[in-house]
Amino acid sequence: MIRSVVRGFGASLPKRVMTNSEMEEKVDTSDEWIVQRTGIRQRHIAGEGETTASLGEAAARAALDKAGLTAADLDVIIVATSTPDNTFPATAVNIQNRLGMHHGAAFDVQAVCSGFIYAVATADAYIRGGLARRVLVIGAETFSRILDWNDRTTCVLFGDGAGAIVLEAQEGSGTTADRGVLTAQLRSDGAHKEKLYVDGGPSTTGTVGHLRMEGREVFKHAVGMITDVIEAAFDATGTTAEDLDWLVPHQANRRIIDGSARKLGIPLDKVVVTVDLHGNTSAASIPLALNVAASDGRIKEGDLVLLEAMGGGFTWGSVLLRW
Ligand code: UT7
Repeated sequence: MIRSVVRGFGASLPKRVMTNSEMEEKVDTSDEWIVQRTGIRQRHIAGEGETTASLGEAAARAALDKAGLTAADLDVIIVATSTPDNTFPATAVNIQNRLGMHHGAAFDVQAVCSGFIYAVATADAYIRGGLARRVLVIGAETFSRILDWNDRTTCVLFGDGAGAIVLEAQEGSGTTADRGVLTAQLRSDGAHKEKLYVDGGPSTTGTVGHLRMEGREVFKHAVGMITDVIEAAFDATGTTAEDLDWLVPHQANRRIIDGSARKLGIPLDKVVVTVDLHGNTSAASIPLALNVAASDGRIKEGDLVLLEAMGGGFTWGSVLLRW
């Protein structure tokens, strides 16, 4: 059986770090409120010349280096983003060109904060279906550029960055002892589209628009939706919370992360948390967190790793993989 195995990983963050005390100068907020309600202490904000494509390119180069590969070895590039450099073409073709790759295929997927989960699921389907042997999966965002910097209920929450992994076809035995993606569970329900959206777009206002969120409403649904797709991943593979080495969640809010882990009986010392450092970087948050925990030696080859996310749409999903 063909499995999609992680061969390399990498990340890139804008140079500029913005602390909560700097936020206090912009809007009526406090470090205490932000830390207590979200766990966020700082975020990176893209400066001049830093874009979703430039951050994605840097993350991609780091992942290719780690894999010992070049762009010539790739078949497909998939970028998860809701903040593309342009309405079109896809940020993926922009990054493809920056990498000097002129073969294969490159395209974006748009599932907001669940984007990286959707992109990994898509890459895994391409690899298992025999359409590609190596897929570069990138989550890259510059949410700072779609924030309303006068709205304290949203501007304190988000940050910019990019992370990437290289997935490669390898032969497995078909059991959960295999390295690679073991299952992907995807869900969406557009009935919730007004709870987290951008109030502009090419076909409506002709403008880019700003992020709008009913935070409390999103929060209310988050833990239930996350635990639903995690339980679905356990059911699909016959695994349990006890088998997990690491939970690498989407990093939106420390309270959502802790609440989901508690509900599933996953000890907090098995949960990778980077929301304090990066804020919510939407589709970039999981690959950024993977990069931190794999670089510092926490996630090791053979570890059972569960990824999950929930966000605008609503979309939600999980990926269970052996590193
Ligand atoms: O990644 C996509 C998914 N997104 C999420 O997962 C976000 C989900 N939602 C959340 O994380 C939380 O709902 C928030 C962090 C956005 C808000 O936390 P909360 O505990 O739900 O607060 P709240 O919205 O109920 O607001 C509580 C109070 C309000 O004041 P009143 O009405 O009680 O007087 C807000 O006006 O906090 C006020 N408030 C703030 N105060 C200081 C809202 N934003 C701020 C702020 N600084 N930045």
